[in-house]
Amino acid sequence: MKATACRKTHFNAAHRLMNPAWDEKRNAEIFGVCSNPNFHGHNYDLVVKVTGDIDPDTGYVMDMKILKEITDQFVIQKFDHKNLNIEVEEFRLLNPTAENIAIVIWNILREKIDSRFSLSVVLYETERNFVEFSGN
Ligand code: NI
Repeated sequence: MKATACRKTHFNAAHRLMNPAWDEKRNAEIFGVCSNPNFHGHNYDLVVKVTGDIDPDTGYVMDMKILKEITDQFVIQKFDHKNLNIEVEEFRLLNPTAENIAIVIWNILREKIDSRFSLSVVLYETERNFVEFSGN
């Protein structure tokens, strides 16, 4: 019997979308206000989904306390109240779109969560705009 355990969490961060190979005009055309050179912020909501067999002893897929601790320690502490472009190493050379942020988070969590579970990350940049990455 498989089930998916989901933990929803939250962080605030600033970013600027830009392609360094393009000039300011082209960046402004493609990314609009999200390419403001002075950065802007988002209230990100993150849903981490862990799918696996239900442990017959506990009735859990995964202990939510452990999922919370891993997410808080390795993702929220790294991203919350940060300027992603400047302060988070992974975005030195990677445009911090919601897609790329989701992939970076997935890669961090994949190392910390047992490989018997499948993992998916849903990242809301706004209430209406969100992306999902499942490692494919
Ligand atoms: Ni933005």
